[in-house]
Amino acid sequence: MNARLAAIYVLYDVIVGRRSLSPALAEQLDKISNPPDRGLTQEIVFGTLRYYSSLQLTIRPFLKKAIPEKNKPLAIVLYSALYQLLMMKLPSYAVINESVDAVKDIDFEWATGFVNGVLRAVVRHGDLTLKRDKNADHPIWLAGAIRSAYPDEAENMFKQNHYPAPVMLRVRRQYHSRDDYLALLHTNDIQAQAHIDNKDAIILTGKTNVADLPYFSQGQVTVQDANAQLAANLLGVQSGMRVLDACAAPGGKTAHIADKVDGITLTAVDHAAGRIDTLNDTLSRLHVDANVITADLRDTTQWHDGQLFDRILLDAPCSATGVIRKHPDILFNRRQSDITKLSAVQAELLQTCWKLLKPGGRLLYVTCSILPEENIEQVNNFIKKTPDATIRPLGHNRAISNKLGTLQFLPDKYGDGFFYALLEKQDHCA
Ligand SMILES: C[S@@+](CC[C@H](N)C(=O)[O-])C[C@H]1O[C@@H](n2cnc3c(N)ncnc32)[C@H](O)[C@@H]1O
Repeated sequence: MNARLAAIYVLYDVIVGRRSLSPALAEQLDKISNPPDRGLTQEIVFGTLRYYSSLQLTIRPFLKKAIPEKNKPLAIVLYSALYQLLMMKLPSYAVINESVDAVKDIDFEWATGFVNGVLRAVVRHGDLTLKRDKNADHPIWLAGAIRSAYPDEAENMFKQNHYPAPVMLRVRRQYHSRDDYLALLHTNDIQAQAHIDNKDAIILTGKTNVADLPYFSQGQVTVQDANAQLAANLLGVQSGMRVLDACAAPGGKTAHIADKVDGITLTAVDHAAGRIDTLNDTLSRLHVDANVITADLRDTTQWHDGQLFDRILLDAPCSATGVIRKHPDILFNRRQSDITKLSAVQAELLQTCWKLLKPGGRLLYVTCSILPEENIEQVNNFIKKTPDATIRPLGHNRAISNKLGTLQFLPDKYGDGFFYALLEKQDHCA
């Protein structure tokens, strides 16, 4: 499969088919054997999604009229070609020829002259630069929500969402200290640096295929964002505890909890069978044990044995607006109405988890969202209607904190956007 054509198929699946980027990309990458070509496909796809509205705006003066919806595949060919010309600075002959070939492959043969003409006009222009969309390539509702929640940080967040997220590792302490592993990376000429405040985290600063990292295949190190690593750290598990990872797949946090201390009983629940398969793969790659259950958490009659938990991690399904850098399809597939629906599910999951928590036990509520409705407002509503719930205040110098004591991380060079709230169930006997 040709790399550029593969990129167009992925973009079409995401933008027109509203498919998730990860499976759409994986399907096309499977058809490409040459690693540099796979890299090219990925770069075109991520870049075109990240700059879509700006690309649309920039190419508009070269079109007699806007491209109608039914010809969206042609628009996708043009925008991805423009991204290659303006942002990747790829040779124009290759971009134009292969874009014209792609138009034939997607059964728009009648439009080859049109695409050829537009792209040649762009190249003839000579010094064309990208016109910036006023909402920084975010849907209007999301740009508005970010600006209203974070007036001072919004512009930086928009900028962050145009770049890839830093790749971070969690070094598993039972095998290596973080500093020993960092030295090993440097010995192998792999560019990396210690994370500023997370003692197990390393940031890869060069281009590295993680599968080639020393001891990666043996599970001695794993890919995990530094802010995501806070979940297991904040949960405070101790030997002998019964611990529930309530929305566990694909299992990055389950494995980290299991690494924390020996002698816990760890149950991991998720309702998505495909994601549970990935969770099982994660646990077996890292040689970690947990009682894995495929079930809707809310339907406790189907899976719960009646014994309460000392600690519960609720890493709730959310808008994922804190990880747009990794999933730019969110800019296309997420609707404003989803937030209200997600918020209702989060409230239900919180209520279910609360019933499963021992008096004196703690529940860590986590999302990878930056939207207050799913985070601080969600927790505030829960506290108001749950008399035996209190917040154990958290502090972190990189997070936006508030008087409730919750943490809101925004995406930056030290980690992804995450929200944390630690709730404690009052023990009336204490
Ligand atoms: C944010 S992800 C969890 C990520 C995971 N904790 C990790 O670190 O790898 C949210 C998960 O919640 C699961 N989920 C959503 N609704 C659920 C429900 N009602 N019951 C169980 N799992 C649910 C989704 O399938 C998804 O895997």
